[in-house]
Amino acid sequence: MIRLGINIDHVATVRQARREKYPDPVQAAVMAELGGADNITCHLREDRRHIQDRDLFLLKDTIKVPLNFEMAATSEMISIAKKVRPHSVTLVPEKRAELTTEGGLNLAVADLAIEAAVRELREVGILVSLFVDPDLKMIELSKHLGAEAIEIHTGPFCRNVDGAAATKTKWSLTKELSDIATHSHELGLQVHFGHGLHYTNAQWLQHVSFAEEANIGHAVVARAIFVGMTEAVREMKRLLNDPSLKP
Ligand code: PXP
Repeated sequence: MIRLGINIDHVATVRQARREKYPDPVQAAVMAELGGADNITCHLREDRRHIQDRDLFLLKDTIKVPLNFEMAATSEMISIAKKVRPHSVTLVPEKRAELTTEGGLNLAVADLAIEAAVRELREVGILVSLFVDPDLKMIELSKHLGAEAIEIHTGPFCRNVDGAAATKTKWSLTKELSDIATHSHELGLQVHFGHGLHYTNAQWLQHVSFAEEANIGHAVVARAIFVGMTEAVREMKRLLNDPSLKP
């Protein structure tokens, strides 16, 4: 079974647009759990554009499934993670002006901040995942830095699958991703995926070997506007796991 992590950041985006108390990302997380979410993810950004510190603490106290805290490898965020004690942390690069996380971590430049973050978080029992592009060098470096999991950036994969006219091309893109996942698994890493997955491309993950988890936000929150959060999550979980929906 592919676990489904639901990223509730964009519920907070709607709330922050008016600086209101609603919609509440914690309420969204509880409804996502009811729909079968296997974990809840949120990203506390340096600029606090969506999730606020309070949300993170409330989420940890409220949800019953694991909390995955997405964050940049800064001393401020490490200290918050140590207070919140989420089940896992996914380290991501963060740029102030970006609309959303744009690419995986660049581990090729010796990044002492990432190395220290992995060490400090693991020391307090938090599982650490690194968000990386589907690049074997980055994946091997993730293992070298002590990560237990990687989240493979599926943005380019999704764009290419969405844009491919021929089904044959979609199969070959999926095979490429699957080969990378197999290599990652052989290194002993848990293999997660995230970014750009939506209701017409996510079922390709069923054909990716060793796909353990998909973290999905924007498409699910958008779908929830029309069918409700619980149903939106239920539909996505089915796309990831029901073999009768294979493309
Ligand atoms: N994984 C990571 C590391 C992300 O930064 C994001 C976006 O916040 C997601 C998954 C979810 O991406 P999307 O909103 O496109 O589903």
